[in-house]
Amino acid sequence: MKLLRIILWLAVLVAGLLLLFLPRPDDRATIKSSGDSLGGDYILTSHKGEKISSSDFKGSYQLIYFGYSFCPDVCPLELTKITTALTKLSDSGYDISAVKPLFITVDPERDTVEELAKYMTGFHPSFIGLTGSVTDIKAVAKDYKIYFSKGQDEGGFYLMNHSDVIYLMGKDGEFLKLFSSMDAPADIAATLSKLLKRK
Ligand code: NI
Repeated sequence: MKLLRIILWLAVLVAGLLLLFLPRPDDRATIKSSGDSLGGDYILTSHKGEKISSSDFKGSYQLIYFGYSFCPDVCPLELTKITTALTKLSDSGYDISAVKPLFITVDPERDTVEELAKYMTGFHPSFIGLTGSVTDIKAVAKDYKIYFSKGQDEGGFYLMNHSDVIYLMGKDGEFLKLFSSMDAPADIAATLSKLLKRK
């Protein structure tokens, strides 16, 4: 009988510990919304016409921005922000070869390889522009929780509505940090300076 009581006590203790340490439903939601499950595998085409797989970036940090080359305002600002941050880091002696800045189009119908090739010349030379089929792009955007939609077509010209966030991903493709339009180049540089080695 004594043994049975000990076993019962142990069972209660284990159940109690489990309740304490198992994530509660809200905790799980928080982890998810902070982007723990962000990202995924893909194969797209670069602005140089090369097939690029997400696994090619294993071992590198990635700054990922989703947008489109015909964007009149926000996209160029954000890509310039990344460009400024990388230039600043490089000028301060950091080895920026460990960071891959990626621009993934949400407008693959207009953003062909040729279009992207022209567009990417306006930004940091290490930038990789990525395009693909509409289906491919939809899948990648979904994995990265990026919203986009086509605006009204006016005589062949249209705008795209899209999320405006820069993701910093780690060497295994894991989500590290999100930069919003409120962040300045200095904020991105400050975060990366803690991760990069000096030349
Ligand atoms: Ni844009």
